[in-house]
Amino acid sequence: MDEHDMLLSPAGVEALRTALSRAAYTSNGIADRLGPQATGGIARNDFRAALRATADRDPLATLIRVFICDQTEPEAAVAAALAPLTVAEALAGGLVERHGDGLRAGVDLEPYADDWWVLADLPVSSRPGRPLHSEHVLGIGGATQTLIGAAVRRPVETALDLGTGSGVQALHLATHARRVTATDVSERALRFAATTAALNGQDWELLRGDLVAPVAGRRFDLVVSNPPFVVGPGTTTHVYRDSGRVGDAIGAELAAAAPGLLTEGGTMQYLANWVHVTGEDWGERVAGWFAGTGLDAWVVQREVADPMAYVNLWLTDVGEAADPHRAAAWLDWFDAHKVEAVGFGIVSLRRGGHADPVVRVEDLRQRVEPPMGERIAAWFDRQDWLRARGADGVLDARYRAAEGLQLRQEATMGDEGWAVDRQVLAMPHGLRWTEEIDPLVLALVGGADGRLPLRDQLALLAAAHDVAPEELAEAAGPIVAHLVERGIVEPVSD
Ligand SMILES: C[S@@+](CC[C@H](N)C(=O)[O-])C[C@H]1O[C@@H](n2cnc3c(N)ncnc32)[C@H](O)[C@@H]1O
Repeated sequence: MDEHDMLLSPAGVEALRTALSRAAYTSNGIADRLGPQATGGIARNDFRAALRATADRDPLATLIRVFICDQTEPEAAVAAALAPLTVAEALAGGLVERHGDGLRAGVDLEPYADDWWVLADLPVSSRPGRPLHSEHVLGIGGATQTLIGAAVRRPVETALDLGTGSGVQALHLATHARRVTATDVSERALRFAATTAALNGQDWELLRGDLVAPVAGRRFDLVVSNPPFVVGPGTTTHVYRDSGRVGDAIGAELAAAAPGLLTEGGTMQYLANWVHVTGEDWGERVAGWFAGTGLDAWVVQREVADPMAYVNLWLTDVGEAADPHRAAAWLDWFDAHKVEAVGFGIVSLRRGGHADPVVRVEDLRQRVEPPMGERIAAWFDRQDWLRARGADGVLDARYRAAEGLQLRQEATMGDEGWAVDRQVLAMPHGLRWTEEIDPLVLALVGGADGRLPLRDQLALLAAAHDVAPEELAEAAGPIVAHLVERGIVEPVSD
């Protein structure tokens, strides 16, 4: 870690850690101090109750006022709250800054999870009018949390966080990886990450460089990345957002790098944007990223934005929403490249060593029951099961419907009573898939009580409907495999 500076000296970080621990400036400590009403207000950026509850300015109160409620506080109170860290060192490290006749936050110092702290830059909304640093270090936002939730948290030997920023992904990796490596192109980001690591008593290998360059030739069991995935003409104004690559090329570049980064059986997960181009199937475009990699791939599209909303979102993110020229130039680029929408999602890749890798790119816009990471791990487990069984083995297995599986019907009243128009299976848990099915599949799922092999179930159905059992098996096998893949029916082990 020593090769990267921190925001404070090692002794300064230790002093800060002492101050924060002593004051109980942790998520739980703050919640206990403020109570549910004020804590709830903070989540909505309404600090009134929190300010009333911290009027006596003891160390915890002052830390809450400065770093959570963004107040300017008297220097003596801040000095008492940060001691044994001196105000001079806190100022030099940018932790606090002078404002009027007091001190206020210079960074985002967030208590995080049970007893961690994450250091990042303040968001643009905290200092309106102040331009964001070109190497702005991102705090814990929506995309960050999406990747935290999506990461497969199984024990591994080695893990890599590409584009670590504040270091928050690496903090999580250290809970289930024996060794953590984190990289970033920005020296400034690495300073924040090194400080976050030391503040939490963790030890990661930190490397500087462009994407996978700093780890060339090395392999990891798990790689996660929340890269600068924003799509556009390839200009870089803010490194946390802009990769310098044109369009959605960074998503393809990470896919191409994955086989060389992963150990056998290793997993790589990253967030990406991809363009929806007029006349082109977005799914095929994204699937094309994995052609020839030999990796199993599951890509889920979680959101889709139209160009105007997309550009506004990302200009607002850096405080440039009011600049019509910036928006126009970006939208012109979208027009010129026939981009009609931008998709956002999670890419999960696995080096399975199979000659016939599974590549699935699909919409998954519904709300998913967390933790997403377990759902993703289970998806790859189900792929393993399907592959090991083969088409014949799928027919020989016995199945049970997913817990709580629901049937939803739409029907129209006619002269002869209700005529069913649509039947949809709906999973109330997990990935919450809904799947339209025909009456035959409905009968199969309805009869899936774990007792009869699918082949026997199909023979009964074939006899009842007077069709050849082999024909029915040929048609039903892939459908059942699809239902297994989605977890709508589950194999029953012998
Ligand atoms: C969206 S931020 C993610 C930060 C953090 N990992 C998280 O999940 O909140 C992207 C990070 O990638 C870094 N980055 C940008 N371009 C990069 C590149 N070409 N190679 C490595 N890191 C890069 C940025 O400095 C930034 O810290």
